[in-house]
Amino acid sequence: MGPFEPRSAGRREGALRTAPTAQPISAPIAPERIETFRMVGERLALDHEDDLATLLLDPRVAETMWSPRETRTRADVRAGLERKLLHWHRHGFGQWFFRDGATGAMVGRGGPQHTMASGRDEVEIGWVITPERWREGLATELANASVEIAFGPLALSEVIAYTQPHNIASRRVMEKAGFVYERDITFAREPFVLYRRCRGRPWGSAHAHC
Ligand SMILES: CC(C)(COP(=O)(O)OP(=O)(O)OC[C@H]1O[C@@H](n2cnc3c(N)ncnc32)[C@H](O)[C@@H]1OP(=O)(O)O)[C@@H](O)C(=O)NCCC(=O)NCCS
Repeated sequence: MGPFEPRSAGRREGALRTAPTAQPISAPIAPERIETFRMVGERLALDHEDDLATLLLDPRVAETMWSPRETRTRADVRAGLERKLLHWHRHGFGQWFFRDGATGAMVGRGGPQHTMASGRDEVEIGWVITPERWREGLATELANASVEIAFGPLALSEVIAYTQPHNIASRRVMEKAGFVYERDITFAREPFVLYRRCRGRPWGSAHAHC
């Protein structure tokens, strides 16, 4: 998910009860393991659930990751993870679980995934970093690595990112990773700001559209 997605999305897509043993609909087109300067990303798996619960239910993270109108639980974390496993299964790419490359400790989660946030089917880059590691530039590192995969193996010509208007840290990550503000949007009945990054657009261009 980007910042968050409606609970109903899980019901609409269904849970991944049988997928791990079923034939993938799409063979992986993105690497299942990626390395950045300071991190290692591994394809999300059910084994990550405990760490993701610690991360996503932390009030400092939950504040911007979930809708303020609903209290989230461990079951929501599990449902969200299942949607992301299903995404990998269906599309051959998705988000990674990131560890510190030196210690192996959890650093965050993020990467590319389909979204309807802009009103049409597009690929967004999402990111969340454990609060103990905020302001070290890790989200920007994650965003840049994800964009590289999106414009490389995924052969996309543009990607989006969106966040709540007051999420200044995430907006700053977007800017540092070359995304340009496009417009205000409403998604899942919440206001967001939509940013876009185009392959081949000159760095620093003020135009959001590709
Ligand atoms: C948003 C988030 C991923 C940023 O992670 P991070 O690793 O700290 O990001 P970076 O260090 O790469 O960059 C953060 C930038 O925001 C700035 N920033 C952070 N908090 C800020 C604040 N309250 N006001 C102004 N700027 C702020 C930092 O100074 C930095 O910019 P700089 O390099 O120009 O100084 C992290 O805060 C997080 O996980 N938040 C909770 C989940 C979330 O909101 N995810 C995004 C949903 S769209």
